[in-house]
Amino acid sequence: MTAAAELPRPMTFTAAPALTGSVTVPGDKSISHRSLMLSALAVGESRVEGLLEGEDVLATAAAMRAMGADIQRDADGIWHIHGVGVGGLLQPEGALDMGNSGTSTRLLMGLLASHDLTATFIGDASLSKRPMARVTDPLAQMGASFTTSPGGRLPLTMRGACPAVPLDYRLPVASAQVKSAILLAGLNTPGITRVVEPIPTRDHSERMLRGFGADLSVEVEADGTRIITLVGEAELQPQQIVVPGDPSSAAFPMVAALLVPGSKVTIANVGLNATRAGLIDLLREMGGSIEVINAREVGGEPVGDLIVTASVLQGIEPDPARAPSMIDEYPVAFIAAALAQGRSVFRGLDELRVKESDRIAAMAAGLRAIGVPVEELEDGLIIEGSGGAPLKGGGPIATKLDHRIAMSFAVAGLVSRDGVTIDDMRPVATSFPSFTALLQTLGAMA
Ligand code: S3P
Repeated sequence: MTAAAELPRPMTFTAAPALTGSVTVPGDKSISHRSLMLSALAVGESRVEGLLEGEDVLATAAAMRAMGADIQRDADGIWHIHGVGVGGLLQPEGALDMGNSGTSTRLLMGLLASHDLTATFIGDASLSKRPMARVTDPLAQMGASFTTSPGGRLPLTMRGACPAVPLDYRLPVASAQVKSAILLAGLNTPGITRVVEPIPTRDHSERMLRGFGADLSVEVEADGTRIITLVGEAELQPQQIVVPGDPSSAAFPMVAALLVPGSKVTIANVGLNATRAGLIDLLREMGGSIEVINAREVGGEPVGDLIVTASVLQGIEPDPARAPSMIDEYPVAFIAAALAQGRSVFRGLDELRVKESDRIAAMAAGLRAIGVPVEELEDGLIIEGSGGAPLKGGGPIATKLDHRIAMSFAVAGLVSRDGVTIDDMRPVATSFPSFTALLQTLGAMA
């Protein structure tokens, strides 16, 4: 990193004229991580198109290279990966630097848990505060051992077990990262690994494992519980993967287009997997006009183009059961609620306290700073909407090394009287490096 890159990069976002035009958002972060990891375990060349080239995914690429995979990007932006085979990862020489990325950390701990090697995981100040026991506990039951920092956090050193012991595990927390860590550990484990998921979470790992040829089945019980069964000692076949646009990134221009009066925006090629599409449902229930056209399937994932038209929104009290399908979208949903007519009550969101930042506290503080009446609950927020009137604005907003806090308040700035200043836009590079340029394409920040 250069000296300039180490300095915070504040930026002010001001009231925008009607947003118009057609844009695409970068590749899905969850799918990008998984495509690199599984390609690195297949013997032969896999090709990945549309990979998210953000810092989080590049951290995964660097880690897979450090453990023996050959990963190259060609001039057309296609990534070519030659894998080492299931069980073939090599001892990394130095510590694996995960930066800000919880997904890289937790999924890779799963992968390594059934390899005979030792690895140290380090990360930035945000990642070093996040709980890891949710993965180290089940992986320890499979035979891996961990030496962690206080509170089970990073930096930590792990020793994988080979052979590992297959696990039958009921998820105590609705987390796709925990589910995926166990399934990835199960790949190189003799016997059957089973994960029981009482509340469904994003299913990209299951889809992609099957696509690579793993013997994985999913049974859904009458109450919606999912039972995922994976036969270990799998052999993965190289694949050609096309990564759809990230719905979690599309969320920002989507909410901006609903809120800035007169806007009409097309966001093309957005992933619409039902386990990720909760924000679209929520915004429609609030009165938002979001039309899906060209619905199709790309690389085993549903995809479509969204036409979003500025709308008058109503406050809402969403069912917490939908949380996993929009878990990363709450910060920008809170901005939508701040402009809606009436009160919105969000509850059951304890998981938001352990994301890249404590998103309940960070959003409450930021909303207050820009003049939005808000009450912070243990597990959510109560927000009084402005009824469409511009927010007062202000700042600087403390982003706490959290890309989604930065982008959510940038959207708020577009519908503010005095503008909203973000204290540091650098974290946006983890998931959406082209965010500011995309807003400019739509006519904001002229
Ligand atoms: C992710 C799962 C979610 C999500 C994260 C990405 C994944 O985390 O918040 O951004 O790719 O599996 P949890 O598993 O902690 O809910």
